[in-house]
Amino acid sequence: MNILIIGGAGYIGSHVAREFLDRGHKVTVFDNLSSGLRENLFPEAAFVHGDILRYEDLRKAMRGQEAAVYLAAFKAVGESMIRPEKYSVNNITGTVNLLNAACETGLKYIIFSSSAAVYGEPEYLPIDEKHPANPENYYGFTKLEIEKFLAWYERLKGIRYASLRYFNAAGYDVKGRISGLEQNPANLIPVIMEAACGMRSELTVFGDDYDTPDGTCIRDYIHVNDLAIGHALALDYVAREDKSVTVNLGSETGSSVMEVLNTARRVTGKPIPSRVAGRRSGDPARLTASAQLARELLGWEARYSDLETLLSTSWKAYAKKTGL
Ligand code: WQD
Repeated sequence: MNILIIGGAGYIGSHVAREFLDRGHKVTVFDNLSSGLRENLFPEAAFVHGDILRYEDLRKAMRGQEAAVYLAAFKAVGESMIRPEKYSVNNITGTVNLLNAACETGLKYIIFSSSAAVYGEPEYLPIDEKHPANPENYYGFTKLEIEKFLAWYERLKGIRYASLRYFNAAGYDVKGRISGLEQNPANLIPVIMEAACGMRSELTVFGDDYDTPDGTCIRDYIHVNDLAIGHALALDYVAREDKSVTVNLGSETGSSVMEVLNTARRVTGKPIPSRVAGRRSGDPARLTASAQLARELLGWEARYSDLETLLSTSWKAYAKKTGL
């Protein structure tokens, strides 16, 4: 299939592009390189340096494409609460452009990077897709609104979509084919990696007084290769069944901050200094996914999302880059 990967030079997008190429699709990466990197592009894929906020860029790039994978969004939760304008313009206006260009060019399928952030504070665990969606931050709100736009355009224009609600994406390509590191990361595993290779002095642990066995928060970490496979299976499903779908992609395993840190110390062989500070606002104690629906509908299952693989693949990428 001809597939446009919007945000395909980014951290998750480059893994998704690799997966579609491996499966024999004809891939075009569309990226404004605001956080995506040229080094994440593959010679087998065409590249369009374009911006979703420029409608013409999108319309041109979409001509002749059957499917788009839509990963181009701002994703910093904290920043979204301070600068909602930025998130409205890029995430919401960008979506409207994408959908309108899809109508104009006859694009059939959209695979969208949604987020567990649409659920907000968990009412029960593990979180399944029936869990109420009450986002607690503006970033999560934009992802939920995008899902609603997709549902309306499906109803009115027949565009089929898959909305993939990622839990905590982490890790690097198990075959080591992606070298670009995320810039200014705020998420736990890249922050630990930066501390391991001396790019920052320590990890700040945000709270050790939660109601969990070791007092630190529990999350569901999902390997980017598993996510990438999820996109490919989701497109297969949407095209085969001619139906849209909204599913969680998570490992169904909870790991605490201390478990991640201790595994990282073992895997990297580095001391990784850490300091416990106060809680970060808005952090629930536990978040874990039910991925039963993705299993049933897509035949998807996490294969690479054990802590060992998440951390060893990350470490390989960081160690290579920093010459360790
Ligand atoms: C994980 C745990 C922190 C950094 C976010 C978004 C979510 C989704 C995934 C995109 C928490 C702790 C972290 C640090 C720490 N994103 N931590 N020190 O907040 O679970 O999820 O990314 O869709 O929407 O909210 O991920 O990696 O920031 O934090 O102690 O320097 O690590 O408190 O318990 P989070 P995270």
